[in-house]
Parts: sequence; structure tokens; C-alpha cells
Amino acid sequence: MTTLANPTPYDRVAYPTTVFAQTHPERLAVLARLAGLDPVPPCEARILEIGGGTCVNLMSMAAMWPGCDAHGFDLSTNAIARGQEIAEAAGLGNVTLAVEDICEAHHRYPAGSFDYVIAHGVYAWVPPHVREATMRLAAHVLSDRGVAFISYNAMPGGHVRQIMREMLLDAIGEIDDPEERIAAVRDFLESYARPQDGDEPLATALRQQAENMLQRPDAVLFHDELGPCFHPQRLLDVAAAGHACGLAFLTDAGRNRQLDGFLPDGASVPDDPEAAVLLAASRDDYASLRYFRQSLFVKRQHGRMIDRTIDATRIANLWMSTRMARQEDGSFVHGADSMVIKDEALADAIERAAAVYPQRVPVASISTDPEHLRVLLQLYIEWYVSLFTAPAPFPPSPAERPQCSPLVRGMLELGEAMLCTLDHGVLKIEQAELRALLRAADGQRTIAEIAALGTGIPPEDTLAALTACCTKALMKV
Ligand SMILES: C[S@@+](CC[C@H](N)C(=O)[O-])C[C@H]1O[C@@H](n2cnc3c(N)ncnc32)[C@H](O)[C@@H]1O
Repeated sequence: MTTLANPTPYDRVAYPTTVFAQTHPERLAVLARLAGLDPVPPCEARILEIGGGTCVNLMSMAAMWPGCDAHGFDLSTNAIARGQEIAEAAGLGNVTLAVEDICEAHHRYPAGSFDYVIAHGVYAWVPPHVREATMRLAAHVLSDRGVAFISYNAMPGGHVRQIMREMLLDAIGEIDDPEERIAAVRDFLESYARPQDGDEPLATALRQQAENMLQRPDAVLFHDELGPCFHPQRLLDVAAAGHACGLAFLTDAGRNRQLDGFLPDGASVPDDPEAAVLLAASRDDYASLRYFRQSLFVKRQHGRMIDRTIDATRIANLWMSTRMARQEDGSFVHGADSMVIKDEALADAIERAAAVYPQRVPVASISTDPEHLRVLLQLYIEWYVSLFTAPAPFPPSPAERPQCSPLVRGMLELGEAMLCTLDHGVLKIEQAELRALLRAADGQRTIAEIAALGTGIPPEDTLAALTACCTKALMKV
């Protein structure tokens, strides 16, 4: 039986775990398919989250796919207890959470038992022996068609963060009390962030980083900046650690990094394509002072080859959604970015897809023209378009007996304001009437019965309010 040392720092101060789009098995599956692999459909997959805190990220997946089998663990008893409370309130029968140590977890989980393995924010925040055990565990539990996600503070940006860390640790000295540590760090950051005459460019960059740190929640500052372990990793070292455990580097899951595992367009295939893409990505890390990586791994098997040439036609049988908003001049806006799609037919098709967001449309309904698919792939890499292996697990309009997501219901019951949506996002809902409406939508009552309940929403507005909940991915199909 595993003996667990408690309390951990994460028991003293709860980590504000949330959902992470880049860990989503749909994203992992799409990238694997782009490399010519055959990943397990996420909706029926076995998923493991390592060091998941409350594992709300995992539960968000379990809520959207009742057919998946979701397991998560963490060393923090408090985090897992909170996660179990949420899973129970949500009635998520496909979620199993455990208090477990990464170093012992191979006893609990059999070899090859998971199709998606996620370790977000763990690898560079634990001592070396736990880091090694994390990679060993990922390799041990990964199935033959599986994809593992491992994120970490990366080099060379880690050097810069290390400078900040040394200043922060110096500022808190021997203070042990969490609240006092956080207060001391905030005092220091506020003063340090002020620009000084004659600042060198590096000092300017560090002061900017201090400014950014001030925006982070207390608990994130406490753990990510002041925690006992901070071991940023070089991509090549992480890939070598994966190799030693029988894993091959697939690619990176981050924005604009998803082609890191692929050869440049038109390049001839070298003898060792994996080594070539890793070297190029590693050089780029140094050229751009990268500080975070989200590496994907698959099993290195005889006879199985990752195709590292980019073939955009591989996305033709996927589904897509987009929030790209067409402007009067025909261009598109996405967040703060704007872009022009020169091909009118493609631009019109993207506009039609955006009109049904967050619903997904078959990529083939947008176009099957290889040139158009290349444009869509580029938009995907830049995170302007999302790709999926299946249609949305939430409806465009309320069913006869509308049912809100089980996880939303559970979180409402526990009084949480931030709710996990069925498109793996979070949404803050504080309005009492809307919360009452969502709780009333239990899949048993008709819309008329919900309207008659007196949720606070005028009965004549109930349908519109439920439709709005559908467009926020809060309702189940
Ligand atoms: C920075 S937090 C990240 C939590 C979550 N994955 C996220 O990204 O929000 C690191 C997590 O790793 C867990 N952890 C650290 N060492 C561990 C170990 N030996 N076994 C299991 N979990 C561990 C901590 O308890 C904590 O919840």
C-alpha cells in the first residue's frame, strides 16, 4: 500500500485548477491523425490525468463523453477530496479519482491501460526522481494507439524565470505562513515592476514579467513561483527521457507550435525525421526564448511510423468550429487579430461555419480543395479554427426536455460560480435566475414545465434563455 506524506503544499494552499484546451484529447487525436496515426476516438477512450489537482480538467472531458473512462490522481488529499465531491454532485459515473503518488502509480494502473495521458503543470515542478517517474508512468500506461501530453517550463525562458524566482525567494526570506509569503512577494513585485532610468533591455523584460506575475491569482504565485521545485527543461532532454522509456516525440500542443513535429513543407525526408524536427524545434526555442512547452508522445513501436510530412488533406474528414467574425470589408477578426481570406468561396464557407459556433461543421462541407484545406490547417495551427474528430457533444437548440450538462448541475449544486462547459471552457454564471434555470433543466421537465417553475426568468423568455444556454455549450445532447 502507498504511504503518502501529507499535507503537501497543495493541501496548505489549494491550486486553482481549471480546464486546459490544449490538453483536450480531441486536440491530441487531431494531431495524431495529422501524422497519419489512428488514435482512439476520444468519446470512448480511457483517459488518465496525472497530478490533476481536483481533476476538474478531466471531469470536463468525462461530462462531454459518457462513454469514456476517466481516471485522475494527485498527491494532495484535499484536492482529490474536492474533486470527488464535484464528481459525486455531478453524478459522473465514468470518473475515478485517487490520492496517489506518481512514483507508486504504476502499481495502480496496468500497462497499456490508457489512450490519452495528461500531465499538465507537473513535470518541471517536481523533484528529479518524480519527474523521471512521470515519464516512466506515462510510457507504462500508454496504449499502443495512445497519445501522452506532458507540459513543462522550458529552456531557455526558464533561465529568465529563474532570475525572477531567485529575487522572489530572497524577498520572502524565512517567511513560512502562506498568506505572509504571498503578501511579501506582491510587495516586492509592485516595487520591482516600476521601470528605472537606464534599465537594460533584460531588466525591462524582467519588470514586464513582474507586472504579469502581479495579475496571477495568489495560489498560482504561491505554487508556481515560490514552490520548492522549479526545474525548467530543454526540449531535447525531455524527448530523450521519453525515448529512454520507449516513447517517440509526436509534436507540441501549443498555439503555433503544433507543426513542430512535422518537416517543413517541401523538405525531403531525412534519415531520422524525429531527430531533425526536434533539433529544429529546439533551435527555435532558443531563437525565441521559449519558456513553456506542451509535448506530445506516442509509443515507439516497430513498424509504426509517424508521417512527418504535412498532408492537409488529412483534415478533410474532421469537424471544425470557428469564432472568426466576418467584417464589413470582408476580412475576419478573431480576438485581437485580424486576417484576410483571399478566396471568396472559402471565406463565405468560413463565415457560414462561424454563424453556427460553437456547433461544428464537417470540414468537407467547407471544402475538399487541397489548397483550401491548407489554409484551414494554417488557421488551426494559429488557433483561429478548432478541429475535432466528431460533431459537438451539445445541441444547437433546447431538446423537448432540456438537460444541462451533469458537471454544470453538480457545480451549481456546490455553489461554484465558474462552470465547465461542454466545449471544454469555463463560464462564470452568477445570475441567480440563470442558475435556477440551469438546475431546473434536468432532462425530465418540458420547457413549459420549466417556465412554470418560477426560476425568476419570465416564462415567455424561458425558451430564449435555454437557447442561449445551448450556444454557451451548457446543455447536453
Ligand atoms: C502546478 S500543480 C498542477 C495541477 C493541475 N495539473 C493544473 O495544471 O492545474 C501540480 C500538481 O502536481 C501534484 N503533484 C506533485 N507531486 C506529485 C506526486 N508525487 N504525485 C502526484 N501528484 C503530485 C500536486 O499536488 C499538484 O496538484
